Amino acid sequence: MREQWSRGGFLLAAVGSAAGLGNIWRFSYVAGENGGAAFLIIYMVAVIFIGLPLVIAELAIGRRGRDDAVATLRHQAPGKHWYIAGGLSVVGAFFILGFYSLIAGWALKYFIGAVDGSLWAPVHSSAYGAYFKAFIARPYEPLIWQLLMIAITTAVVAAGIRHGIEAANRLLMPILGLIIIALAVYSLNLDGAEKGLEFLFSPDWSAFSRPAVYIAAIGQAFFSLGIGMAIFLTYGSYLDPGQSIGKSACIIVLGDSLLAITAGLAIFPAVFAFGIDPAEGPELAFITLPGLFSQMPGGRFIGTLFFGLLAGAALTSMFSILEVPSAYLARRMAWSRRKAVCLAALLSFLAGLPPALGFALLEDITINGRGLLDTYDYAVSHLLLPTGGILIALFTGWGWGKSRALEASGLLNSPLGKVWLFSLRYISPVVILAVFMSA
Ligand code: PHE
Repeated sequence: MREQWSRGGFLLAAVGSAAGLGNIWRFSYVAGENGGAAFLIIYMVAVIFIGLPLVIAELAIGRRGRDDAVATLRHQAPGKHWYIAGGLSVVGAFFILGFYSLIAGWALKYFIGAVDGSLWAPVHSSAYGAYFKAFIARPYEPLIWQLLMIAITTAVVAAGIRHGIEAANRLLMPILGLIIIALAVYSLNLDGAEKGLEFLFSPDWSAFSRPAVYIAAIGQAFFSLGIGMAIFLTYGSYLDPGQSIGKSACIIVLGDSLLAITAGLAIFPAVFAFGIDPAEGPELAFITLPGLFSQMPGGRFIGTLFFGLLAGAALTSMFSILEVPSAYLARRMAWSRRKAVCLAALLSFLAGLPPALGFALLEDITINGRGLLDTYDYAVSHLLLPTGGILIALFTGWGWGKSRALEASGLLNSPLGKVWLFSLRYISPVVILAVFMSA
């Protein structure tokens, strides 16, 4: 018998999967670089019209298949080649987890540093650039933090769907929710917070004419939801047959967006209150923010909460990424869950070595002017996830059969079923392709 989530447990785990470094670390710097409010609007449109239909599609396929991504797509379309999309997800998961766990490791290092005080050793806020650069350039230290995060993830995923992933999300998600709300309330009460709000909510209209903003927003929608990599397909394979897919998908998408916006409310008011440029890039969370915490009243406590949030949110996403190849290996090799999870974790660590060494041993390697970590991040959000997304959309819209798709999603008798299929057949593939070809 395949394991099954409890209803609430599934929602917590699915929101936990969607909400992660993407909502906090990545959202804040990509929004910062792309004009704030204008980016936010395009991002929300992409989330509703491309993201939501894909989450529904993945959950529907997964629940119907009740198997790993490759086997499911094979059974659902016998004699066709759609299973290759499943294979892409399994391989892709190694690379995503590889670089994701690296940044998760940085978050853990900062969290522990905030607790034991070592993070507050630089006396000047301007010293955090040097602090961060010295840390990531050390040959082993970042690898050790990364390994720790992978080890925790492995232990949780190996313990199973209910007793591992669901239980860990039940513990972590409420804490993370409380922390992020507390941080936003604190930040909004700083003097000068309005400028941050203005940045996030009043658009600079000229940004709408920049194609780069659209590309960034759609890439962020894919990354933040974690769609296109069979994550919801795999989580959906453990879904209660009676649970509504449409409602669940709405909760997931809403939860993910709310968390990203709340993270924005926690970060930008503080950034502006202290007169910092929001377009700092990926370092925002690791250089700018600790500098800011070290100057704020109560900043050490706030900083501890923030990095705890970052590390915890990363973990709940790492569970779902690791589950994709683990489910595949367990079925394919007829291994125990534990053995499959361990091998998948090891392969992910290996796939992540290039970016992990990208600031030390391999620091001279750049691809198109990007360092290795940037290259991974770019390839994942701009190639891998959108390609996976197009394949899932095409499979559901064209390959699976209309009535099967509508029935599996529970949208057979709903007017929204037509809109959903239309989006998967035409809107998602065309928009994704157009935007990324122009890149
Ligand atoms: N959605 C997760 C986040 O926002 C990360 C993720 C990306 C998960 C891609 C799966 C696939 O952090």
